[in-house]
Amino acid sequence: MKTIVDFQQMKSDGEKIAMITAYDFPSAQQAEQAEADVILVGDSLGMVVLGYDSTTNVTLADMVHHGKAVRRGAKDTFVVVDMPFMSYHASLEKAIENATVLFQDTNAQAIKIEGASEETLTLTKRLTEGGIPVVGHLGLTPQTVNVLGGYRVQAKDKATSQKLLDDAKQLEVAGACMIVLECIPKELGEIVTQSLSIPTIGIGAGANCDGQVLVYHDLLKYGAHQLPKFVKTYTNFHEYGVEAIKNYVSDVKKHHFPLEEHSYKFANKELLPK
Ligand code: KIV
Repeated sequence: MKTIVDFQQMKSDGEKIAMITAYDFPSAQQAEQAEADVILVGDSLGMVVLGYDSTTNVTLADMVHHGKAVRRGAKDTFVVVDMPFMSYHASLEKAIENATVLFQDTNAQAIKIEGASEETLTLTKRLTEGGIPVVGHLGLTPQTVNVLGGYRVQAKDKATSQKLLDDAKQLEVAGACMIVLECIPKELGEIVTQSLSIPTIGIGAGANCDGQVLVYHDLLKYGAHQLPKFVKTYTNFHEYGVEAIKNYVSDVKKHHFPLEEHSYKFANKELLPK
């Protein structure tokens, strides 16, 4: 399994870091077999797996449940689990308690938190000092979508792009081991990447971040949801799945399934009940 030291080295060597989300046992198995460097149990789970409109309905219990399944499917891959909506804002003590539960119960290698407020920076410092690596997340932070006024490109002017750069530097000082940059202009992604010694992982932040992350369901086009501009799809799981299920339904109706080869038989007909 790669460690944060390896990711640091990959940044220095210019080797890109490939991160993908996973939410359950088989998606984690696939990610590990495909040799992804990092698996993120993202709270995007709420939207792509559970069918909510945003990530704000996801609970700590949801993240623990899915994080455990991912761990069982990918025992040898660095796993990051998202701290869900409002699980790290009530108080520092409660945030540390929640992060500890998430980290210990899922056996993850790191947790991820959004933003760089004073409380988030303090939390990053305290968790890192205590032994829980923290991945930051700046730019479009989906847990605050209602405050941001929708899913849109962030940090497009001088003041907001400067703030994002300052936030990234502060997260690094606080001890973050990596920062996800979501939906920002590619020039800013490059500047932040060059300004930090920790790796940046982009999603809609251009090609010059140290790594990239995509949501499993977006990459595979699994589900009928709308895809953002920054996604590249590599297959059409949804369409192939519907086609396969249609064939199954038709086979059942036409008595084409099950066939002899799918059936069990009594070796001795004498044993059949009368
Ligand atoms: O929840 C998630 O999947 C994420 C990625 C979009 C980075 O945070």
